[in-house]
Amino acid sequence: MSNMGRIRSLAGTVIRADRDKPVSNFEVARVGNERLLGEVIRIDGTEVDIQVYEEIDGVHVGEPVEFTGELLGIDLGPGLLGSVLDGIGRPLLGSFPEDSVSCFLKRGFFSRSLDTKKKWVFTPIRACGDPVLQGDVIGSVIEGEGFRHLILVPPGSGPSRVREISPGDRKFSVDDTVCLLENGQKISLCQRWYVRTPRPCAEKLSFSEPLITGQRVLDTLFPVALGGAAVVPGGFGTGKTVTQQSLAKWCNAEVVVYIGCGERGNEMTEVLEEFPHIRDPHTGRPLMERMVLIANTSNMPVAAREASIYLGMTIAEYFRDMGLDVALMADSTSRWAEALREISGRLGEMPGEEGYPAYLGSRLAQYYERAGRVMALGEPRRKGSITIFNAVSPGGGDFSEPVTQASLRLSGAFWALDKRLAESRHFPSINWKQSYSLYERALEPYFMQNLGEKWRDGVSFLRELLDRETELLSLVQIVGRDALSEQDKWDLEMGEIIRITFLQQNAFDPLDAFNSLERQMQFAGTLKDLHELVTKEIEKGVLYQQIQSLGLLRRVLSLRGTSPEELQERSSAWFDDLIRSLSGLEGS
Ligand SMILES: Nc1ncnc2c1ncn2[C@@H]1O[C@H](COP(=O)(O)OP(=O)(O)OP(=O)(O)O)[C@@H](O)[C@H]1O
Ligand SMILES: [Mg+2]
Repeated sequence: MSNMGRIRSLAGTVIRADRDKPVSNFEVARVGNERLLGEVIRIDGTEVDIQVYEEIDGVHVGEPVEFTGELLGIDLGPGLLGSVLDGIGRPLLGSFPEDSVSCFLKRGFFSRSLDTKKKWVFTPIRACGDPVLQGDVIGSVIEGEGFRHLILVPPGSGPSRVREISPGDRKFSVDDTVCLLENGQKISLCQRWYVRTPRPCAEKLSFSEPLITGQRVLDTLFPVALGGAAVVPGGFGTGKTVTQQSLAKWCNAEVVVYIGCGERGNEMTEVLEEFPHIRDPHTGRPLMERMVLIANTSNMPVAAREASIYLGMTIAEYFRDMGLDVALMADSTSRWAEALREISGRLGEMPGEEGYPAYLGSRLAQYYERAGRVMALGEPRRKGSITIFNAVSPGGGDFSEPVTQASLRLSGAFWALDKRLAESRHFPSINWKQSYSLYERALEPYFMQNLGEKWRDGVSFLRELLDRETELLSLVQIVGRDALSEQDKWDLEMGEIIRITFLQQNAFDPLDAFNSLERQMQFAGTLKDLHELVTKEIEKGVLYQQIQSLGLLRRVLSLRGTSPEELQERSSAWFDDLIRSLSGLEGS
């Protein structure tokens, strides 16, 4: 018997209804004659408030409400990779029911997130009689070009043994049973999970290696740990979206989940149009083959952003549980926080700072806590991770506002985008004075082991010179450039060279868009050698003016535009040439 109720009143997309039987918090309700999807967000005696995640025009008082007894969930299984879902998990693009092949789904339209007709070849790794526990791998299916999608005993299942399991080479749709356990549990290729509940793991692991972004300023100066979290705050037009897209494209995560969380409508369209055409630069295959895109379309109420965040996180956890490294990005946290503010306002809750609900911080914390490096449940043992990159778009670029502040308390890397840098076309517009990473200490052993002493030398050289430049620039404001010593004048130029050649990186130039750690260090080393060579000449009496005539900035830039293969041989010729030019200068 279903649990029914009637709509009593409406306030925007929050409706109040009565109910026949008890309901639980966050229970999914189908609202009105069109059966729009909503979640119970408050229980008040025999009445409940329901947040509806679809447009609610034309729904009237007195229409029925059905309480489903379920929480908001998603089907996880083969076919998820490459899909584009809306904020409540309905596929937006692809070979699904004809009338839904569009960015705008019909209201009340219900669809599973997976294609239930498609067949997959299941290959077992367990046999009849094998004991199994939750999280154990029982087999796999191959998706796309060789992605091995592991089929796991769903978390929460009790210990049992395999009674029947399909032999290899048979095809199944996601709902077919491939394995029957002795306790009667049927395991199919797909498992349903309530998105607000974190998926369990065996153990949380400490940070020990970086997630490599290929962005020089990030990996070298402000690295993020695999399983860590970075916030990317920036005002309007500072490059949040381009930065996240570069990360999605280049970072070394195996799976990328991208949540387009209510940024400008046309920006979402851009994302939907662009991502399907982007090629994975590491493999040449379409990037979407290892991505899941979640898009809150503009015809959905802002509250759906709240659902999309949990949806994205659950999908990320599912791939983490297979032992993969997942990057999760949301653009932007601010729009999610605004949704919380709106829902809270409709409920008449006491507003906190800037009208956000008092629980803003704890909601964000619940999200960030689901990131991390873990040992997954079950056998064979698998390590997986979720690394978060969340954009924040503070109004007016003011980082002291509550969403930026709450985000920075919860994350270990802060990549501050700067309007002035963006205006002067310094991209990525990451402000090297404001940004920081708390992961450096944890990652030091990794860097030392993989890159050696030159990593420490390179990083401290870059930092010192950038600091020195800042200091000298403020000095110049007081005394003028001419009053500086020859060495100071050169340090100032060196700072500029570092900024332009090392910190700036062109996301649209294929040779520059990605640098391996090795290459980043090689580059830093080149800059350091250059600095030492010139400093020696200055000590011998060469004037800065003479150095200036050598066009060093241009020379360094020419090195940046070389492919990694060319760089090795070019850089020694480059140095010979430099030394020749320097020795041609006469000390005064
Ligand atoms: N790494 C980069 N390399 C080259 N150009 C860039 C880079 N990052 C940003 N840009 C330029 O800056 C423009 C604005 O960037 P983007 O759309 O990412 O900003 P945003 O912060 O997402 O803006 P909004 O606040 O409108 O969402 C881009 O169209 C591009 O021209
Ligand atoms: Mg943007």
